[in-house]
Amino acid sequence: MRLLWSLDLYLKRNLVLLVLVLAWLEKCSAISNSDKFLEMLRLEAGSFPNARLQQIKEGSAIQRQLVSSVSRRILAGNDSAWNTLDGSPPLVIARGGSSGLFPDQTLPAYVFASAFSLPNTALFCDLQLTKDGVGICRTGIDLADSTSINISYPELSSKYNVSGVPTQGFFSIDLTASFVLQNLSAIQANLARPPFFNGHFRILQPTDLPNFGQNTSLFWLNAESPSFFSEHELNMSSYVQSLMADMPVDFISAPDVAFLQGVQTGAPSNITKFVLKIRGLNETEASTNLTYETLLKNFSTVATYASGILVPKEYIWPVDIETGYLGIESTLIADAHAAGLAVYGYDFINDPLTPTYNYSFDPVREYLQFVTSTGHHIDGFLTDFPTTASEAIACFRNTTSTTRTSGSKPYVISHNGDSGNYPGCTILAYESAVRGGATYIDCSVQMTSDGVAICRESPNLLLSTDVSTHSNFMSLVSSIPQFGDGNAGLYSINMTWAQIQGLKALMFSPTKGIQRNPAYKEESIITLAEFLNYAKNTSVGILIDIQFGYFLETEVGLDVVGAVLTSLNETGLTDSERVMIQSEDSAVLTRFQELSNHTFVYKVVDSNVSVTETEVTQIKSLANFVRLPRALVQVASNSLLLNKTDIVNLFHAQNVSVFVSYLRNEFVAIPFDYNADPTMELNTLLNVYEVDGVVTDFPATASYYLSNTCLNSTTQATTGLQYKLETVNPGELVTIWSLPVQNVTPQTPLNVTKGQTNLPSSLNPSPSTSPGSGEAPGMSPSPSRSATPSLIQPNIALLLAALVVIITNHCK
Ligand SMILES: *[C@@H]1O[C@H](CO)[C@@H](O)[C@H](O)[C@H]1NC(C)=O
Ligand SMILES: *[C@@H]1O[C@H](CO)[C@@H](O)[C@H](O)[C@H]1NC(C)=O
Ligand SMILES: *[C@@H]1O[C@H](CO)[C@@H](O)[C@H](O)[C@H]1NC(C)=O
Ligand SMILES: *[C@@H]1O[C@H](CO)[C@@H](O)[C@H](O)[C@H]1NC(C)=O
Ligand SMILES: *[C@@H]1O[C@H](CO)[C@@H](O)[C@H](O)[C@H]1NC(C)=O
Ligand SMILES: *[C@@H]1O[C@H](CO)[C@@H](O)[C@H](O)[C@H]1NC(C)=O
Ligand SMILES: *[C@@H]1O[C@H](CO)[C@@H](O)[C@H](O)[C@H]1NC(C)=O
Ligand SMILES: *[C@@H]1O[C@H](CO)[C@@H](O)[C@H](O)[C@H]1NC(C)=O
Ligand SMILES: *[C@@H]1O[C@H](CO)[C@@H](O)[C@H](O)[C@H]1NC(C)=O
Ligand SMILES: *[C@@H]1O[C@H](CO)[C@@H](O)[C@H](O)[C@H]1NC(C)=O
Ligand SMILES: *[C@@H]1O[C@H](CO)[C@@H](O)[C@H](O)[C@H]1NC(C)=O
Ligand SMILES: *[C@@H]1O[C@H](CO)[C@@H](O)[C@H](O)[C@H]1NC(C)=O
Repeated sequence: MRLLWSLDLYLKRNLVLLVLVLAWLEKCSAISNSDKFLEMLRLEAGSFPNARLQQIKEGSAIQRQLVSSVSRRILAGNDSAWNTLDGSPPLVIARGGSSGLFPDQTLPAYVFASAFSLPNTALFCDLQLTKDGVGICRTGIDLADSTSINISYPELSSKYNVSGVPTQGFFSIDLTASFVLQNLSAIQANLARPPFFNGHFRILQPTDLPNFGQNTSLFWLNAESPSFFSEHELNMSSYVQSLMADMPVDFISAPDVAFLQGVQTGAPSNITKFVLKIRGLNETEASTNLTYETLLKNFSTVATYASGILVPKEYIWPVDIETGYLGIESTLIADAHAAGLAVYGYDFINDPLTPTYNYSFDPVREYLQFVTSTGHHIDGFLTDFPTTASEAIACFRNTTSTTRTSGSKPYVISHNGDSGNYPGCTILAYESAVRGGATYIDCSVQMTSDGVAICRESPNLLLSTDVSTHSNFMSLVSSIPQFGDGNAGLYSINMTWAQIQGLKALMFSPTKGIQRNPAYKEESIITLAEFLNYAKNTSVGILIDIQFGYFLETEVGLDVVGAVLTSLNETGLTDSERVMIQSEDSAVLTRFQELSNHTFVYKVVDSNVSVTETEVTQIKSLANFVRLPRALVQVASNSLLLNKTDIVNLFHAQNVSVFVSYLRNEFVAIPFDYNADPTMELNTLLNVYEVDGVVTDFPATASYYLSNTCLNSTTQATTGLQYKLETVNPGELVTIWSLPVQNVTPQTPLNVTKGQTNLPSSLNPSPSTSPGSGEAPGMSPSPSRSATPSLIQPNIALLLAALVVIITNHCK
């Protein structure tokens, strides 16, 4: 895994960063006084490596002002319905702060967590001791995992027995506190996350934490390996006791029973709660010589020295590693509660490389899983993304998916139905989209060689059907450059409906390396007519997306306009207001306008174009709505959002509403600024970018978002917790840190008409297209061109692929 961000790359990048930061600091003498948060972060960036306590103190003073002036989070009352041990909402425990965004246990990570999470969020520090007995916050006994030490001081590595295993590494017990604090910086320990901030932030001590919190913040210290330190004459217990005299320590956890018992004897403060951390079930707890599994079977004993337990989340909701699905909830919480023990879960992250399918890649759904059962609820979440845990607790608790109608705004338009959870364009996917609250369901129209309009992700059937398992069709693989996918494919226009009807729809996973729910493999492929017959009996709107219509009409001789109009007519949807017709071809929209009265959507496909008033005017003459690729609205580079564009305003100025596509929950599909949180992206797109609708593979996530209880301040006042859902300021991360972004390539203006001439009116509606009508008229399969079938990617190297995607493909 280390190969990814190799030392070489690291050094180069940081050299560049250093130069940029220095240059930036020079021209930044006139920092706006209002922007305290940014200023403080800049202070941190500029001061390293000459870390001085004074500067931390200054930073924390600024932070205090920031928190009081921003005052974003107000705790208001209790929601009596929590079935936690004491009836209060679950605690949010920020593991090293917002460590999903910044390197853990650094100034910005803690500041971000305390500013943007629920007020009583606990700031979590993994405690280690230096040679001179000073505490530092670092996770993992080998400092190479989370600091610059192996890069700056490779000669300092040494070898010790760690739990009986001789281990080569970099150990805090070899280093003095002043060395660590002045010479080392934090790096991103999770290699699936970008290393943008490596080398920027100093290592912190637990005593720094109160400077970064709000006055309601709690503090949680975890002593992961106290016995390792005592083997080297460093007494973790007395260090922690002296710390408790200096600062409020709300929680102390450790996987070590003797340590927990010792540290609370003669503790100077009685506010602290002691928590037993549970490691692997068959691992042995050293001081009792019992496995953690055995300890868990005797809660009443645990309750004599602890008030709670910290367990891997899978001990509560097991996940079948083979299949990726949730199992049956364990009785762990109920049993622990019965003994008076609180249960805190760990390992909550928004960016797992092997997600649990049940959550639809939406981290909010995962948190809710632990608090929505009718039984006992979890008492706290130890998470790298405390903002997401906060919003789940405060805003989504009572959210249910509700059916919405075509009139509801903002528009939630499905992309091939609920294609994030079911094979796209199947009745199953459409039913789920309607249930989940889509306001429009859609069919991406493709044509068969015999003129039948069908619903499919793409004209290339290799992507979303099992055609590759039918060797007799492999001779039909060819390369059709007009479809623009650059590869060979097996296209619907080379097969008859009779042939396609025998295939099965398959799950399409557009995000490389992350497989979507593979459970359904027997779903039928449907025609546009079947789609319309289903959709007509629902309350939602219908969007018909015509793909490559101009090419099919003019070069292949397939009358897609006619086929669509015929199907609409046959289902009695002629001129229905519920129907939107979408196309990327001006000539196709013009033709439809001549022949029908629907709502029209002009689809911009290319995201590397510029749009001015001129193009907007052209589009306005063709359509009431425009569908823009996400990258045109929220421009990103290297997965980082750049400055906000005014493209949405341009369209709004001419009364053209804007849909943005495609929203996807997989974290690699979400710009880094959004904390791998689809809810934060939705909230920003709708409120900062002000789009009118989203086209999404996960309509239920959008619909959930739209019915969350934090959206309206009036409803907030009457319910339990108050929380302001976070929006992102586009470009802020890049600006503060001068992060490495590529120059945006020069854009060519959008060519709205592409020089298309009007479609000949001889191609009138009512071709003989009765679906399933057997024989294939003009079907003459030509021999395969020398193309190799570009089959669906194999599942190997899942991890590596996902990592590569992060770098190369992050926010298509
Ligand atoms: C919350 O609960 C506490 C203790 O039960 C009670 O004193 C307090 O008034 C409650 N607050 C609200 C807003 O209901
Ligand atoms: C330090 O980095 C070098 C080069 O990447 C690597 O070979 C070595 O194993 C690392 N040492 C430790 C203790 O991690
Ligand atoms: C904690 O200690 C303070 C003073 O030392 C005392 O007033 C308070 O009652 C104690 N609280 C508990 C819960 O024991
Ligand atoms: C612990 O359990 C896991 C899975 O059940 C097993 O693979 C592993 O070998 C066990 N470890 C020990 C030390 O028994
Ligand atoms: C721990 O328990 C195992 C068996 O349960 C025993 O073989 C071993 O000697 C014990 N070790 C200590 C240090 O008591
Ligand atoms: C598929 O259809 C296109 C357009 O008619 C044609 O150019 C191509 O040769 C066909 N491919 C095969 C394999 O029949
Ligand atoms: C719609 O179908 C009816 C018969 O079902 C036919 O009379 C009418 O001309 C058709 N309209 C169009 C626009 O095709
Ligand atoms: C659209 O509706 C208008 C009035 O409602 C009507 O005059 C016109 O003929 C219709 N156009 C088509 C193509 O059906
Ligand atoms: C971002 O856009 C705003 C307003 O459009 C402009 O004032 C600001 O200078 C831009 N920032 C950068 C870094 O381009
Ligand atoms: C929020 O307020 C708007 C307008 O007042 C209303 O339409 C919407 O249903 C409300 N949303 C929620 C979740 O209460
Ligand atoms: C959530 O639902 C529970 C029970 O249905 C209710 O008691 C509670 O007030 C609700 N909380 C919010 C924030 O709406
Ligand atoms: C748009 O594209 C067509 C076809 O490539 C070309 O003929 C036409 O000149 C282009 N129009 C503009 C304004 O660039």
